[in-house]
Amino acid sequence: MAKIAPSILAADFARLGDDVKDVCDIGIDYLHIDVMDGMFVPNISFGSSVMKSLNGIATVPYDVHLMIEEPDRYIGDFVTDNTEFITVHYEACSDLAATIRHIHEAGCRAGVSIKPATAPEVLDDYLDEIDMILVMSVEPGFGGQKFMPESLDKIKYFDATRKETDVDYLIEIDGGVGPANAETVRETGTDVIVAGSAVFKAADRASAIAAIKG
Ligand code: DX5
Ligand code: ZN
Repeated sequence: MAKIAPSILAADFARLGDDVKDVCDIGIDYLHIDVMDGMFVPNISFGSSVMKSLNGIATVPYDVHLMIEEPDRYIGDFVTDNTEFITVHYEACSDLAATIRHIHEAGCRAGVSIKPATAPEVLDDYLDEIDMILVMSVEPGFGGQKFMPESLDKIKYFDATRKETDVDYLIEIDGGVGPANAETVRETGTDVIVAGSAVFKAADRASAIAAIKG
């Protein structure tokens, strides 16, 4: 069984609170907050005020995914009592070790994400400090894209590495995952599955969530 983190990017923004309440009532593990700056990725989503408007509605912790160039500048904005993970991109940080420290000092768990073209070995020197690795299975920037099966090799790499060493971290996957491919993703070693369209746009959200979690 995996944990599920539905991405509010795929929710109906005109009734965001209702959509969030709905999936929380069904039973989810985290709420995935996709923040895009129009620089690191070619799209702008929303900022911390939208996330904070859900304080008091969301009954699960936030899993914040910052698709922001030099995210260090904005970490403080996303720290709330409800924020468990703050994930930054390896490709967006000029001093990744310092950014991870900053997240920890703010009282949150640190995630680091890599884009589809980035080799998993780039994180080797940081694994000790990372609480969660987020493997992108689509090009970051938009919801509703097709899953890239090559990403499974990275999941295998990170899963094998944690088994062979005494370092431990969670593995999360993000992009194009739904009931049809969730089992493969889980079997490969994924702990947390992000799903936007497959949850929020499903006719039966409870069934979709159950099928993704396994
Ligand atoms: C993409 C985002 C994803 C995306 C997932 O940049 O990080 O979280 O919203 O959406 P789906 O599940 O629709 O691919
Ligand atoms: Zn995301």
